[in-house]
Amino acid sequence: MISFGRTPRTVRSFVRRTGRMTGSQQRAIRDLLSTYGVGPKEEPLDFDNIFGRQADRVLDIGFGNGEALVCAAQQHPEQDFLGVEVHEPGVGHCLLIASKAGISNLRIVIQDAVEVLRERISDESITRMNLLFPDPWPKKRHHKRRLLRTPFVDLVGEKLRPGGSLHIATDWANYAEQIDAVMSESDVFELEERREHCGDRPIDRQTTKFESRGIAKGHQIWDWKFIRSP
Ligand SMILES: C[S@@+](CC[C@H](N)C(=O)[O-])C[C@H]1O[C@@H](n2cnc3c(N)ncnc32)[C@H](O)[C@@H]1O
Repeated sequence: MISFGRTPRTVRSFVRRTGRMTGSQQRAIRDLLSTYGVGPKEEPLDFDNIFGRQADRVLDIGFGNGEALVCAAQQHPEQDFLGVEVHEPGVGHCLLIASKAGISNLRIVIQDAVEVLRERISDESITRMNLLFPDPWPKKRHHKRRLLRTPFVDLVGEKLRPGGSLHIATDWANYAEQIDAVMSESDVFELEERREHCGDRPIDRQTTKFESRGIAKGHQIWDWKFIRSP
């Protein structure tokens, strides 16, 4: 079990926002979680059973409104996708578009991704993880809330299979510096590729909603692909 050092685990990477849910998002959460959900919070995730097959598994942490996630699931029917998100309006939106797309290779968990990783996912069971535009927590006193810190990276390393990939992107220069520093200290991950671009050269991923917002504000994008070493 991974230790979160001197930072108590009650410091979470999110604050539950009471963002307004549309009627259709509420109905989606009520009606579609029986199809796209994965069962009670406490249960370990048995992917072979959930998807009824063995396939490469992609975990998307903090998928937002799910547009990029659903698009990836449509483009890769041979892979199984698990999206983890705590913002319920985003989950509702994702369920609606997943249902409209009629995809069967996607499941959604509404839970803190750190808990999901620690308690519900077996070691070396994931082929690819996405951490795309994690909340930047720009104020210095909030940096402890940033997900991409060494204990999280160690945890991700335990869950990815050797040779699996970790994809990270941000549009915050100061977070990009932290990501470079934290990942360079990891002895579990090797950098395969790093790009700085204007939103036109993502590494093997779809453009996300937050990325589009950043681009519209003139932000630069940082993209990384790391490989979990054997
Ligand atoms: C800045 S948004 C980016 C969303 C999406 N990846 C995109 O690029 O459009 C970050 C998202 O991560 C979610 N999030 C933050 N911490 C999380 C956690 N510990 N577990 C699950 N989701 C989390 C937030 O609710 C938010 O929707």
